[in-house]
Amino acid sequence: MTTKRPVYLDFNATTPVDKRVLATMLPYFSEDFGNAASTTHAFGQQASAAVSHARQQIASLINVSANEIIFTSGATESNNIALLGVAERYAHKGDHIITCVTEHKAVLDSAKRLEKLGKRVTYLPVDSFGRVDLDQLRQAITPQTILISIMAANNEIGTVAPLREIGLLAREHDIIFHTDAAQYAGHMPLDVQALNIDLLSISAHKLYGPKGIGALYVRRENPRVDVAPVIYGGGHEQGIRSGTLNVPAIVGFGVAAELCQAELEDEAERLRGYCQKIFRELSRNIEGVELNGHPTERLPHNLNISITGTRSSDFIALLGDVAISAGSACNTANPNPSHVLCALGFGSERALSSLRISVGRTTTLEEVEYAIGRIIEASQVLQLVPA
Ligand SMILES: Cc1ncc(COP(=O)(O)O)c(C=O)c1O
Repeated sequence: MTTKRPVYLDFNATTPVDKRVLATMLPYFSEDFGNAASTTHAFGQQASAAVSHARQQIASLINVSANEIIFTSGATESNNIALLGVAERYAHKGDHIITCVTEHKAVLDSAKRLEKLGKRVTYLPVDSFGRVDLDQLRQAITPQTILISIMAANNEIGTVAPLREIGLLAREHDIIFHTDAAQYAGHMPLDVQALNIDLLSISAHKLYGPKGIGALYVRRENPRVDVAPVIYGGGHEQGIRSGTLNVPAIVGFGVAAELCQAELEDEAERLRGYCQKIFRELSRNIEGVELNGHPTERLPHNLNISITGTRSSDFIALLGDVAISAGSACNTANPNPSHVLCALGFGSERALSSLRISVGRTTTLEEVEYAIGRIIEASQVLQLVPA
C-alpha cells in the first residue's frame, strides 16, 4: 500500500491533532460551550469540570498537582511568563538570570527584554553536542542569580539537557529552575518532582493536541514559586494568566497528554528506530553526512544532519514531496545560519547545510523508506555521489 504524498517529516515544527483528541474536543465548540468561569449554572459547571479533568491529565504527564498547571496560549507565552514573571516577582532577591545560547527565541527574546529593563543575563555556551557545561553553569551563579532557564530538549538538534544535574545545582543554590519542555514533554518520561524543576513550559501542538494552547507548570510547594503575570484581566489561572479559558483546546490538550503518556514508551522506541535507520542509510549512501546534536542524549523522534558541500535550501526545494526543514519553523524566513547550529562551533558551512528530519505518530516505515530514497536521489542530483 502506498501512503499519501507529500510525506510529513517535520513533527518538531508541529504535529497533527490526533483523531481521538479531535473527537473529544468537538462537543465543546457547540453543545457544551459554557464559560468555565460561569460556575453558577450547569453550562459553566460542565466546562469547568472538563477543564479540571484536562488539568489533571496534563499534571499526570509530568507528575505534578493539577493546581500547579496554568493554561497559556502555548510555550512562547509560558516562556515569557517564566522569565519576565520571575524577574519581576523576585526583583528584591536579585537581578541575574542564566540561560543558554541555543534556547528558543521565546526564551532568548524574553531574556533580551529583561536586559533592556536593566537585568543581567548570562548566556552559557554549549559544547559540540549542544549541551551546557555544568561547571560553567556553577561558575556563572552569583548571589544575585534568581533564575536558571535551560531547555529540556533542543527543537533543532534534539539534544536533551542534563535536567537532573541542573535541578540539583539550582536547588543547592536556592535558585528557580525553569525548563522549556515544548519538544520534550509527551515524548520522553518527565518527572518534575524527581528533577527539581520549578517552572516548565509545554505546548499542546507538539504532542498531537491543538495549536494555540499550552501550559506553564508553576511549583506550589517545596518551595512555593510565584510569577508575576504578563497579561492582566479577570484573574483567571490564579491571577497568573487572565482571559476566558479556551475550553475545547484545553480538553484536547488533556486527552493529547493522556495519550502521549500511555503510548510514550512504545512510540519512543519505534521512532528512535526510524531515525537511526534514516541516519544509517543516508550515511551509507551519501558522502559527508554528519550528525548534529548528541548521539545518544537526544529526542527519539528528531534527526539533524549536515551534508558537506550542500545548502539545506537546495535540498529542501529538490525534495518536493518530502516535508523536512532546515531548522526551526520560526526561522524559515531567515537566510542566516541557525543560531543553534552556529553555537556548536562547526562554522557556517555545516550550519547552512543542516536538515532536520522529525518523525511522529503517523509516520510509517514505508514513508521512512520513501524519504530515504528521495534524499539519496536529491544528493545525486546535486552531484554529491557518483550516479
Ligand atoms: C523549544 C520550543 N520552545 C517554544 C516553542 C514555541 O511554542 P508555541 O508554538 O506553543 O508557542 C517551540 C515551538 O516551536 C519550541 O520548539
